[in-house]
Amino acid sequence: MNRVGYGAMRLAGPGVWGFPDDPEAARRVLRLAVELGVTFFDTANAYGPRTVNQLIGQALGPIPEGVIVGNKVGAERGPDKSWVVEGRPETIRRQVHEALTDLGTDASELTYLRLVGDTPGAHQDVPLEESLGALVELRDQGLIRRIGLSGASPQMLTRAQHLTPIAAVQNRFNLLDRSGVQVLADCERQGILFIPYFPLAAGRLSGHHELSGPAERLGVTPAQVALAWLLRRSPSVVVIPGTSSTDHLRSNIAASDVAEHLTDTEVARLTGLVDESHAVLDQPTPPAPGHR
Ligand SMILES: NC(=O)c1ccc[n+]([C@@H]2O[C@H](COP(=O)([O-])OP(=O)(O)OC[C@H]3O[C@@H](n4cnc5c(N)ncnc54)[C@H](OP(=O)(O)O)[C@@H]3O)[C@@H](O)[C@H]2O)c1
Repeated sequence: MNRVGYGAMRLAGPGVWGFPDDPEAARRVLRLAVELGVTFFDTANAYGPRTVNQLIGQALGPIPEGVIVGNKVGAERGPDKSWVVEGRPETIRRQVHEALTDLGTDASELTYLRLVGDTPGAHQDVPLEESLGALVELRDQGLIRRIGLSGASPQMLTRAQHLTPIAAVQNRFNLLDRSGVQVLADCERQGILFIPYFPLAAGRLSGHHELSGPAERLGVTPAQVALAWLLRRSPSVVVIPGTSSTDHLRSNIAASDVAEHLTDTEVARLTGLVDESHAVLDQPTPPAPGHR
């Protein structure tokens, strides 16, 4: 798989709500991504809600052979547009069916369960075993091929693995925010894909001064160095930068070449900007099975 994927969240309208003003421009970005060799797309029912999955279905449908669309379930949007983690099995089942309809496919190559283990102070009402159990049933019915987790603490990953193999974990991790570092280490040890979300720190890294040295030496942009550093940080990493710009899309895809040209010293210096031993997650204790 191409280790530079595409994060589709920002294709929705402002506030990740509704359709964008120019849906055809969004579809063009998605089609161009496939033409340029992107094989891994990231999305969620909560984006829009549903509109980003619908755009992907319209642009790529039928999803080409070899392209994986990783979809997240277990989060909803409140009427005030707030993000709500909602892991009841009936919600999970409904969202998986909605995603298959919106994406125009019979089976999801990868469906993640959204948890709150990387959200400081957040509370999870439904034991992950109940939510995950619904995904396992859907996998056994052939509607899902692989199961992933998003926002998992190390303990949540271990608990999930008692129920099912986990193919991928998507947690927050970038040059400035290493909160996913323990889960990254677990993924690396066990051959699980690690998908750092906000790989460009939601755009803040595109002008970060710490990236200017390698960027100037190689004649590339700070954003490319930020993505290249993630690719070099661990072989388990697949990045999903989000953009609505075709120029940024091309530039992000070229980050895999940049990764080959960063020196070990540059990679180590960027890694050392944050003391990862202090990047400990605020881990809410998830409820045990049978408790609400
Ligand atoms: N699991 C979760 O809870 C979770 C949470 C958040 C996000 N995500 C996933 O992570 C993906 C990525 O997150 P994100 O899009 O919010 O943040 P991001 O990838 O860290 O940054 C995106 C921002 O960077 C800008 N950008 C992209 N490429 C650039 C480049 N080459 N040069 C300069 N600026 C550039 C984009 O603006 P332009 O449009 O102008 O390029 C956009 O404002 C999302 O699409 C979503 O799928 C998951």
